[in-house]
Amino acid sequence: MFGNNKDKYLSCKRLLVSFSVLFLLALVLIPPPGPRAAEEDVTWGPYLTLRSASEFVVNWKGTGSGAGELYYLRAIRYWQEEGFSENTLSGPESDGFHHVGVSGLDPATRYVYAVDGKTGPGRENYFTSLRDDPDGFSFFAYSDTQNCYQRHRIVASEMALDPADPAFVLHAGDLVESPLSENWKNFFWAIRPYSGSTPLLPVLGNHEKNHDSYYDAFVLPEGGGDYGKEWYSFTYGDARFIFLDSNAGQIGLGDFLKQTNWLKDQLDRNEKPFTVVIFHHPIFSSKYPEGADVGLKDSWHRIFKEGGVDLVFSGHIHSYERSVEDGITYIVTGGGGAPTGTLESRFDSSRVAISHTLHYIRVNLDGGQATVQAVKVADLEEGYWNRYCDDEVVVKGEVMDEVTIPYKSEQG
Ligand SMILES: [Fe+2]
Repeated sequence: MFGNNKDKYLSCKRLLVSFSVLFLLALVLIPPPGPRAAEEDVTWGPYLTLRSASEFVVNWKGTGSGAGELYYLRAIRYWQEEGFSENTLSGPESDGFHHVGVSGLDPATRYVYAVDGKTGPGRENYFTSLRDDPDGFSFFAYSDTQNCYQRHRIVASEMALDPADPAFVLHAGDLVESPLSENWKNFFWAIRPYSGSTPLLPVLGNHEKNHDSYYDAFVLPEGGGDYGKEWYSFTYGDARFIFLDSNAGQIGLGDFLKQTNWLKDQLDRNEKPFTVVIFHHPIFSSKYPEGADVGLKDSWHRIFKEGGVDLVFSGHIHSYERSVEDGITYIVTGGGGAPTGTLESRFDSSRVAISHTLHYIRVNLDGGQATVQAVKVADLEEGYWNRYCDDEVVVKGEVMDEVTIPYKSEQG
């Protein structure tokens, strides 16, 4: 009797163990249902760029093959109809990359979009199309996000949460430490807080090494140089934005002169009252022995002055510094996440210098002036490499420097 009961007990136990094993196997092997499954083969992004103020580009990299499908719709219709009933666009695939341009958007309108996955549209993302002729708008600028993608993610999160709601984000280069796929993957992970809803407009730093992977990743407004987007320009509202490649040694004298002539032509034809230029290596910095990169200064500063440039952004030096030369405000914003450095002395034109801060720049153009604020995200401890990239930081979100620049046409 006891023997029989023991056999039954052992059979039940075996059955339970078998069910448990099957259940665990099912958990591992069967993918979860719904949008999460569809997102599984999106490895980078989605992230937005612009071809012009009226054309958004949705970009992503997947592990699948074939044309990438983008589903998009005015958000109000999506909510009313509970799905993507129409407006699907396909883009050609290149090595897993998808870049799908969306034009003909209604201005200042909320859109919802999703990129394709294994089972249809994945998770929803939202963006607001730009206005036709905005009275005022905001944009952000930052730089040097290499090495510490965890810290970059903190800066990107603060930018995403900033109520200024920027029309786009400028990046002054050194997005990644080197143009390896793993570094790009970390970069696109770090910018995910804003990248699905706010377009990114970058320039080349020295660390991108003018590698094809940069050009593969970014669809940008038309310009010149490699792939027609090594340098480029863009207009929105009252402002003209000019993006340059300052890697003079890398691009060679011939192309550098070609770019400088293109710059002159851009400024000659510029009718906007406010002009912003962005490139990686600063012309002016306390880090330089005489406060200036003499070669770049000789090449571009006079052209900026004669061409009416108002505001210049650079990175490369991993600190914050604002200087004024011949009425042009120069800002170095090297605090996007990379290990920070110390500015030990100050050159004559330096107005403010702040070391060891994660930060970004918030600019608002309105009422005939630009209000430029440097936003401190967090202080970092001084020391080589700031110890570890995943050290906790105390997020501040406070304005650490502010300046107002009236449009030249508004000045007496
Ligand atoms: Fe750099």
